[in-house]
Amino acid sequence: MQKFIVTGGRKLSGETIIQGSKNAVLPILAAAVLIDGEAVIEGAPKLSDTYSAIRILGHLGVKVKYCDSQKTVSVNATQIHAHEIPDEMMKEMRSSIFFLGPVIGRTGSCKLSYPGGCDIGLRPIDMHISALEQMGVKVTHTDEHLHFTADKGLHGAKIALRFPSVGATENIICAAVTAKGTTVITNAAREPEVTDLIKFLNTAGAKIKQAGEGRIVINGVAKLHSLTHTVIPDRIAAATILAGVTAAGGFVTVRNCNPLDMEAILPLFEHMGASVFTGKDFVTLNCGKKLRALPEKLTTMVYPGFPTDAQSVVMGALCKAAGTTVVEETIFENRYRHVPEMQKMGADIVVSGKTAVIKGVKRLHGAKVNATDLRGGAGMVIAGLTAEGVTEIGDIRFIDRGYDELELTFASLGADIKRI
Ligand code: EPZ
Repeated sequence: MQKFIVTGGRKLSGETIIQGSKNAVLPILAAAVLIDGEAVIEGAPKLSDTYSAIRILGHLGVKVKYCDSQKTVSVNATQIHAHEIPDEMMKEMRSSIFFLGPVIGRTGSCKLSYPGGCDIGLRPIDMHISALEQMGVKVTHTDEHLHFTADKGLHGAKIALRFPSVGATENIICAAVTAKGTTVITNAAREPEVTDLIKFLNTAGAKIKQAGEGRIVINGVAKLHSLTHTVIPDRIAAATILAGVTAAGGFVTVRNCNPLDMEAILPLFEHMGASVFTGKDFVTLNCGKKLRALPEKLTTMVYPGFPTDAQSVVMGALCKAAGTTVVEETIFENRYRHVPEMQKMGADIVVSGKTAVIKGVKRLHGAKVNATDLRGGAGMVIAGLTAEGVTEIGDIRFIDRGYDELELTFASLGADIKRI
């Protein structure tokens, strides 16, 4: 099992180019199933989740070529011949649920096992199912499989989401783009990754409009044609590098990132003592002072609020911030699994329910810890950068699911971190 060895205490400096967004490329790779032609996707990050999605496409009979040097994937779904997502692939990556909408939209049926809970929560799919039923999909359950069929094809519907679920919004969009008639989603997710999926589909000839506060109108079209699309930068990967430099001290310019997607994240680093300068497609951060705790409670919210995916990453930087910060995790029910690992390094964090109270300590010490999930693992790397001595982080396969060689990025900025 691979692990990271981090020797803390080094200041960081330099510049780095941010990877393409994992949470944009996964729904876009799935949506490529809808394209009756070739979809060329540029800026795809080299992640184990990307490879998992490519394996599922191959299983469906879709032709895929991935040249990871240019990080370009070309997908040709003209010969798609299957509609079943194999169990082991559903278990390997619960985001395989993002194939549900595209596969039904393209083939009229889909069979998959329950995506199952994961490290951060139960991850139910009730909203996905009830929305598709409103579009004419029949759902039957066997032992642990779900069978979706739309014998008369899919038709448009008015769908009001009880919660702006990212995955449900994306699955509905993909099921609706070639459905008969118009679909209106209200209380839809507004994350930048949803917008990128819409841009991808509209470039292929779809008719999708984001009409104001969480409202999306989709007019069904007959088919979607070949296209080329560049995936947006990964705002959470950018937040991770910026949090690392804030915690370790130093300065960094992160290129290929969109500060407008990070308006709920960047001010936090300034409150903690860093200075932040933004341009059209880069952010420069400089931090030399002792960190301060955040002046008010940090609550995770749907976009454009503070993203849940950045919670553990910012917490990694807060461990040594003088004062007390209160964090409230409102999106997932089990997203503090990194806290016991940070406590092994001397962090003073108390969790009760959705709330975590972080009291800044003078120092963290290296320890043997584990990544508990993708973003929790990234939080451990940040804590390791600021700890005295050596931190050993196990289970880094979680980190590799969402970060394209995170250790090389921090090492290029001067950190003493290596993968063994
Ligand atoms: C997407 O997951 C992201 N994954 C997650 O990123 C991200 O944390 C999440 O959105 C929230 O922003 C991808 O895009 C691949 P949700 P998703 O549906 O779509 C509940 C990462 O680290 N819910 O918006 O699964 C659900 O249990 C990953 O990059 C229902 O109850 O998130 C959760 O509590 C982790 N019923 C909340 O909604 C449903 O039918 C938000 O989930 C669907 C969701």
